[in-house]
Amino acid sequence: MIKLSPSILSADFANLARDIAAAEAAGADYIHVDVMDGHFVPNITIGAPVVKSLRKATALPLDVHLMISDPDRYIDDFISAGADILTVHYEANGDTLAQVRRIREKGVRPSVSIKPKTPIEAVLPLLPELSMLLVMTVEPGFGGQGFIEDTIPKIRALRRIIDENGYDCELECDGGVSEKNIRDICSYGINVVVAGSAVFGRPDIGAAIAALRAETEDF
Ligand code: DX5
Ligand code: ZN
Repeated sequence: MIKLSPSILSADFANLARDIAAAEAAGADYIHVDVMDGHFVPNITIGAPVVKSLRKATALPLDVHLMISDPDRYIDDFISAGADILTVHYEANGDTLAQVRRIREKGVRPSVSIKPKTPIEAVLPLLPELSMLLVMTVEPGFGGQGFIEDTIPKIRALRRIIDENGYDCELECDGGVSEKNIRDICSYGINVVVAGSAVFGRPDIGAAIAALRAETEDF
């Protein structure tokens, strides 16, 4: 079964609890939280205090995506705030494997993300230690962009490598997903799908999730 991780980047920031409750009621599996520092990406969003408040607003796992240059400075803050899955970028500063191990030691599921142009070879040695690998299917920074088709071979290759080795690693994609392409994306091997504008950008959050779910029922 495909997991849906709606991204609150496209939600109403003045009504996050309301929008997240609607997603939870409609059967979302995770809540995707985009943390941007205005340096790793050209946009600024939210920090650990908001994650701490969201933790009280939902029972769903918080899938926290750190698009920040210096994860070493902030990993502990996001763990204390209540992240369940914590994603660092391979392209960020520091030793990614050490960051992964630190996250796992603290009882949180570690995940690593690669930008669209980063080859998968960069993260293959990390796979045995990851709970999730996040393939960016847009350039990180903003919601509402188009899915980058050049990422499809990377997704297919990662699915094959994960399955062949029996790694206990979810494969998530983030960016440009809608009810029009989610079926194809799942057929490439993705099993956790982030969707921002296709959920919170729609007038009826529950109907938007139902539409995505309907396209993925046979996976
Ligand atoms: C972009 C973020 C995404 C974003 C996706 O850098 O990481 O999570 O919310 O938005 P959509 O689904 O609208 O492409
Ligand atoms: Zn994201």
